[in-house]
Amino acid sequence: MFLWGVATSAYQVEGAPENDWTEWERLGKLKEREVRCGPASGHRERWRQDLQLLPTIGANAYRYSLEWSRLEPRPGEFDPAALEREAERAGFLRALGVEPVVTLLHYTHPAWFWKAGGWENRESVVWFRRFAELVGAALPGVRMWVTVNEPITFILGGYLGGLIPPGKSSFASAAKALEHLLRAQTEAALALAARPSGARCGIAHNMLDFAPDRPDSALDRKLVQAGEALYNLALVEATATGRMRWSFPGEGIVEFAIPDLPGAVAFLGVNYYSRVHLRFRGMPGAVGEFFYRDRAARGLTDTGWEVHPQGFDRVLRSAARAGLPILVTENGIATTDDRLRRSFLHEHCLILSGRIAAGALIEGYFHWSLLDNFEWLEGFRPRFGLFEVDYATFARRRRPSADLFAALGRRFTASGVSSPGASSSGVAGR
Ligand code: FCB
Repeated sequence: MFLWGVATSAYQVEGAPENDWTEWERLGKLKEREVRCGPASGHRERWRQDLQLLPTIGANAYRYSLEWSRLEPRPGEFDPAALEREAERAGFLRALGVEPVVTLLHYTHPAWFWKAGGWENRESVVWFRRFAELVGAALPGVRMWVTVNEPITFILGGYLGGLIPPGKSSFASAAKALEHLLRAQTEAALALAARPSGARCGIAHNMLDFAPDRPDSALDRKLVQAGEALYNLALVEATATGRMRWSFPGEGIVEFAIPDLPGAVAFLGVNYYSRVHLRFRGMPGAVGEFFYRDRAARGLTDTGWEVHPQGFDRVLRSAARAGLPILVTENGIATTDDRLRRSFLHEHCLILSGRIAAGALIEGYFHWSLLDNFEWLEGFRPRFGLFEVDYATFARRRRPSADLFAALGRRFTASGVSSPGASSSGVAGR
């Protein structure tokens, strides 16, 4: 069955007592310095009610993440109550007829992980596999996993841009961290796949559509090729070949092989939101700049992003180069004008059905997000939810786009594309 669902991440809807982001907030690193995630959307108290919304929007699947800092508060020490709670959550979803799709790592890390050197420490591979093994054993009924959310975006933001934890700006650190992160996700995926339930694992890869800021500039066009390779294609190709070649213009190149990677990954998750325009600058440390342009004059979203459905078509074609089934693991818009959300949803679903009709093996679609939530550096201002959250009372209010989502879901699930674990792409069994 085609997976039709919504996505959230743990920290963004329920916060955490103490992790790298709580510290990042204390350091005043969000756009508005005084903002704290706190209980986020209040989902921790209200998780049952919130999950009961899923059948009302026709969702047969739900993508959510585990908060590593809650499950393993100290290295090697797992909290049995937290594990039990996750088992209860997965069981609750099942009872609702909703397939759990569980992300192991969605941006947040326990504080101890960074104290011990984070992803630059080769031991991180062992720590992450241990985490995967433990939660895999605690959640035997979970068949679909996302190992890591947006590895490339995370490395760029955390190790080159200094924007998110661990806040570094060093290509050498980024290169090391990327290698360990991809090795770790491969080992985690193999550990999960070896479980008797035969889990299927994928990576959620953020993909952007790229365009030259000045179409007549050869330098801008060259930068677009480099950006496309670095941001979109390097990971897609690594999942196909087991070889990673990651080159950042003006910074360096890193190459490594993970022969087990192609066999460990059963699907490629695609997170698509927008298009960016690249402009060559050629300054040391600043080869280029990127912009969200409003080329179609339809207004940028509340995160300042361009709405560009045609880019969705392009990235889905690029993602197919992995030779794996695709799962759209995120797609959505930050807006308080729900009419814009409805047209966004409509237009992106048209692209999706066009790709499916053309024969692309797409197994599902997850809209970001079920609820309004904590949008990282942007705080609570961007509203991505099919359900609005009143942050003063935590009341939920259904937006009309939730009805459209349900109606579209009836079409996608009726046409039946493929079912988890029963892939017909020639990569069955991975
Ligand atoms: C993605 C992130 C997700 C959310 C959306 C808007 O890049 O994976 O957590 O913040 O953007």
